[in-house]
Amino acid sequence: MLSKRLKTIADLIPNNSKVIDIGADHALLDIYLTKEKNCQCLATDISKKCIEKALNNIQKYHVNVDTLVTNGLEGIDLHDEIIVIAGMGSHTILKILNKNITNDLIISSQRDIPLLRKKLKHKGYRIYQEKIIKDNHFYVITYFKYKKGTKIKNIYSYNQEYNDYLLKEYQMKYQKTNKLLTKLKYLYIIGRIKKGS
Ligand SMILES: C[S@@+](CC[C@H](N)C(=O)[O-])C[C@H]1O[C@@H](n2cnc3c(N)ncnc32)[C@H](O)[C@@H]1O
Repeated sequence: MLSKRLKTIADLIPNNSKVIDIGADHALLDIYLTKEKNCQCLATDISKKCIEKALNNIQKYHVNVDTLVTNGLEGIDLHDEIIVIAGMGSHTILKILNKNITNDLIISSQRDIPLLRKKLKHKGYRIYQEKIIKDNHFYVITYFKYKKGTKIKNIYSYNQEYNDYLLKEYQMKYQKTNKLLTKLKYLYIIGRIKKGS
């Protein structure tokens, strides 16, 4: 039922936890956590349609998951819940976390991960656990705790396979730029020849 990415997130969450899943969309993570790990989940989303989809799934699997349509943490009283945010970019995630919070966070950002880590470091967060998985794409899934765990360092030093992948991506982009420059140079020279200059 769960993708490898969502299962990796679920595996980081202890049994019987209280969880707030921001941007839950289908709420499949929350359904799994409720069924398999006896967690108490609140599935939220900014989109009413997504929460309707979540409610359909919740009914289908006969579980008890609370739902809420809201923007980020708006209107939510925080206690000791683990906050999960997955499948968004770091800018959106940082807007959502722009409050004085100390809750445990499990985050899987789609982009700008170094920015996210820098800002969370300034807020006093540390890395408690981290998984980097390949599920078609690479995903970095990090469990951050307030003032507990490993000091946040450079993102790219944790997993050699991930480093190699990023390097390859960079080289491919660089090759494309090089090819484009060569083509432009060639067109420029041809143009000059045609003009007779
Ligand atoms: C790509 S889905 C990810 C769904 C799920 N978390 C996962 O990882 O599979 C991103 C979800 O975040 C929701 N979203 C985007 N911005 C949000 C915000 N500010 N507050 C709450 N939900 C948001 C979107 O509506 C969408 O359902």
